[in-house]
Amino acid sequence: MEKYICRKPGKKSVKIIERDHAVISQCVTREYSFVFKQGKGCYIWDVDGRKYLDFAAGVAVMNVGHTNPVVMRAIAHQTKISSHAGFADFYAELPVRFAETLVSFLPSPLKQAFLSNSGTESIEAAYKLARWHKNKKYVIAFKNAFHGRTMGSLSMTNSKKVQRERYAPFLPVRHVPYPYAYQMRMEPEACTDFCLSQLEKTIKQLDGNIAAIFMEPIQGEGGYVVPPKSFVKGVRKLCNNNNVLLCDDEVQAGCWRTGKFLAISNFGVKPDIVSMSKAIGGGIPLGATISSKKIMDWPHGSHANTFGGNLLACAAGISTLNFMKEKRLGENAVRRSREIMKRLHEIKENYEIVGDVRGIGLMIGVEIVNLKKTRTPAPEKRNAILCKASEKGLILLGAGKSVIRICPPLIISQQQAEKGIDILEDAIKVVNNGRYRA
Ligand SMILES: Cc1ncc(COP(=O)(O)O)c(C=O)c1O
Repeated sequence: MEKYICRKPGKKSVKIIERDHAVISQCVTREYSFVFKQGKGCYIWDVDGRKYLDFAAGVAVMNVGHTNPVVMRAIAHQTKISSHAGFADFYAELPVRFAETLVSFLPSPLKQAFLSNSGTESIEAAYKLARWHKNKKYVIAFKNAFHGRTMGSLSMTNSKKVQRERYAPFLPVRHVPYPYAYQMRMEPEACTDFCLSQLEKTIKQLDGNIAAIFMEPIQGEGGYVVPPKSFVKGVRKLCNNNNVLLCDDEVQAGCWRTGKFLAISNFGVKPDIVSMSKAIGGGIPLGATISSKKIMDWPHGSHANTFGGNLLACAAGISTLNFMKEKRLGENAVRRSREIMKRLHEIKENYEIVGDVRGIGLMIGVEIVNLKKTRTPAPEKRNAILCKASEKGLILLGAGKSVIRICPPLIISQQQAEKGIDILEDAIKVVNNGRYRA
């Protein structure tokens, strides 16, 4: 059942939830009893007419805001021409234009794209490409990582037990620690040294039989964990020294959410293969795996799909990327982030249960703990805060064990950001003072 029901759902919501439970497989991770009706900009409404400020952005998808008129117009226009070209079998101009637009934001030599429909597919393609190109068996991924839920990406995913239980055997993947300095109770540099030494040890054990290392530049589902710059640089160096590809999962962090098109650019590192999805389609399913022409040496038929290059998705993607560029949404993300971070650091000083505040751009995590000193995760308190915030009209999601994730649309205004943080602070205050129901 939903974890964050505090506000009793309205009558229309209750009816739809009942119908949902009858016909929709309940394996999905529903956390709210919120029943979506419509969205506009940074706001969403439920079927009972309740309005919410959206600090979840459909899980980091709606960077351009809900029902963005430019994107909606582009989709409507394309519906009059055609929706599907069968791009794996026939040529078409629109997917080419989408790929040209997309790669224009990536550094050389990352200039060739494989198109798909989701984050997990963009990871599957990266995985297969790396194994094809290197013709090696193993990949390395990180503890707490989330790369998706199909069997290839799930073999690398490691953030929650429920996601992997009963699905073994997995593909040949080794997991090594990611530098979660706060919970590892280490200084960033010591944490970097420890994690890099573990990674190096694993590389040595695999004795040259490694195709790639898969890494989120900021761990998303794992708890919005920002690694030290020295760590990301160190991973790049180990890849170079051991002839291993660096596969960068930008599904959640990419597309200007952190101010830069690729989040990994914040660390001064260039990857070999990039996986993107979520925000690049402006709300339409779209995935892309980007690499160099040299690495993309897989032959015809070695990987393909039916819907990759879908015309509606590509029309949405082109207008989404152009809108974000023209409106400089990366710069807005940085400006809003500064204001939000300042407020959150003040909040951290004032409340015992706020253990850590971290993030880059509008990918911000607030870790809720029982006591600052012990740093023990407090999931029930985190859930209570999400509940209270939703009662007051703010939608937030959790991440990791007890982290609140803040990932609003990148169009968010100063006033909207302030309003959201006011609501969040009120919710934190209630829970901090023990006035909540677990
Ligand atoms: C970093 C990362 N990689 C991959 C995925 C999988 O994307 P999808 O749910 O579209 O398959 C996600 C989804 O949240 C993600 O955050």
